[in-house]
Amino acid sequence: MGRFPQELIDQILDSVDIVEVISDYVHLKKNGRNFKTNCPFHNEKTPSFVVSPEKQIYHCFGCGAGGNAISFVMKYESMSFPEAVEILAKGAGIELPRFNASDGQAESVSAKIYEINKVAAGFYLSFLKSERAGKAREYLRSRGIGSKTLEEFKIGYAPENWDSFKKYCIRRNLSLKLAEKAGLLITGEKGSYDRFRKRVIFPVFNEKGNVVAFGGRVMDKSLPKYINSPETPVYTKSNVLYGLNFCKRGIREKNHVLIVEGYMDVIIPFQSGISNIVATSGTALTERQVSMLKRYTKTAVMIFDADQAGEAASLRGLDILIENDIKVKIVTLPVGEDPDSFIKKNGKEAFDNAVETALGLFEYKLAFLIRKFGIGAIGEISGEMLPTIRKVNNAVVQSDYLKKLAERLGIHEGSLRQEMVKVKSARSRKNEPVSLTARNKTGNFRTSEIHLLGLACAEKEVYKKIQDEVGLENFLDESVKKVIKIIGTCMEPGDKKIAPGKVVARLGGDENAEAALFEALSKAEITDDPLKAAQDCISHIRKEHHKNELKMLTESLKKAQEVKNSENVKILLEKINILHKKKVN
Ligand code: GTP
Ligand code: MN
Repeated sequence: MGRFPQELIDQILDSVDIVEVISDYVHLKKNGRNFKTNCPFHNEKTPSFVVSPEKQIYHCFGCGAGGNAISFVMKYESMSFPEAVEILAKGAGIELPRFNASDGQAESVSAKIYEINKVAAGFYLSFLKSERAGKAREYLRSRGIGSKTLEEFKIGYAPENWDSFKKYCIRRNLSLKLAEKAGLLITGEKGSYDRFRKRVIFPVFNEKGNVVAFGGRVMDKSLPKYINSPETPVYTKSNVLYGLNFCKRGIREKNHVLIVEGYMDVIIPFQSGISNIVATSGTALTERQVSMLKRYTKTAVMIFDADQAGEAASLRGLDILIENDIKVKIVTLPVGEDPDSFIKKNGKEAFDNAVETALGLFEYKLAFLIRKFGIGAIGEISGEMLPTIRKVNNAVVQSDYLKKLAERLGIHEGSLRQEMVKVKSARSRKNEPVSLTARNKTGNFRTSEIHLLGLACAEKEVYKKIQDEVGLENFLDESVKKVIKIIGTCMEPGDKKIAPGKVVARLGGDENAEAALFEALSKAEITDDPLKAAQDCISHIRKEHHKNELKMLTESLKKAQEVKNSENVKILLEKINILHKKKVN
């Protein structure tokens, strides 16, 4: 682990709650002493992903994924160990030791870009407050953005000159190369210059609130209306949802998300108290965006302007939500309105009302197609409807849709169903759950060892018993042996039980060992007399050892006989005799 001392990792694990950590990403439901949900790491329809607040670990019985809060963040965010530790430490308010380049631990390029973006956002923000930005302040006021919102969204203004930010970088000794990499400077023939000039600046945040990009808007009717950052190591347009960092909590609380297009369509509704709204920044929803949203809610309300509402293509784009088991509703705004202008004109209540009365995708799409093609155009209508219905994962809902469609079109459900089967499904069977049975072929001593390991986690007395009566070295399964030894290293004199999360932290990412621990923990709760259960396991293990030893000696004997080594034959026969007489219990 190198970078962080184990005590610090333990301190972090002590101060975070795994339930809260995981809840930041997926919706957990209480289930007895544990929490349950569909596993975010494989595709499944019934939840087999369990989070234990007592043990501070998670485990998926479907795909075998498991670990503590740190390993969850690592896996979910595809992060390195130090990155995940950093995030959790930040959330828990724990200061981490700083490492810099001279320690040989160069800060990552991403971290540097976040840093310079933050500096740039600060620069634009303070420029907006300066004397020379009167017009920009007036423009923002005219758009109805209040001062609290300006601060919250860190809205700023980029001065008119070609090199204001560049000079600022030079003054502050910031790398111009880095500023270019971040998309803040553009390299031309005569050197670099500011990308954003004479524009109102909207910093774009990622889910965690880091500034990843900027959008710069003109203050008049000139074109292009927006200039956006190019793609950089920290910014891929299709990976970001504008507003998500502000609305995570709101989306979870309301259990639905409103999806709009523009920055202003997030800012103005948010200002008026709508706290579950995000923007795609003018592109179709991507798989990545959908999987980000999925952690917070399973219902999306698309807010369409009148133009989009008249496009079959914009409806087709929503199939990506259906495929991801997200319920979709649609709100159409009157001609010429977007959420920003609608709220300014009609108020928040009218907007809430439109959202509450939104039609489901099925009803909306069907009504739209009937209007477009006429009710007699069975081929056209079913041709657009069936691919969507086919993507619905819930069989009951799917059946219901088919039935309704058949009714509306006045045809037999059976023929629609046949037609649907022909429609090629975009989703193959690639995401089927992984079978767990392959792993388990090491002989039946393993079952007892695993059980014993579980008991040792639950009861310190059992651990002592194992030390005395079996010996930590004598476990046959290498993974179990590793775990049981590590348990010894994190047991404090006062503890009655061990904290599995801390054991995981010391396993160094050994997946087999982690799997052994989880298997053990999941089986350990069934007994009310752990010492007796441990005794049974120990007896069984002894018998297995005995059997193994006999087997090995017999094999050696055979070999010795083959090569006619009579001396060895004699010794081995003697040993076997003794072993036979030794009663095992
Ligand atoms: P306002 O006109 O200020 O109300 O902007 P808006 O936030 O309502 O944006 P609009 O609905 O016009 O466009 C949606 C999104 O598409 C914007 O937020 C931008 O991210 C993007 N966009 C719009 N116009 C342009 C453009 O000219 N160039 C680029 N690159 N992106 C644009
Ligand atoms: Mn607008």
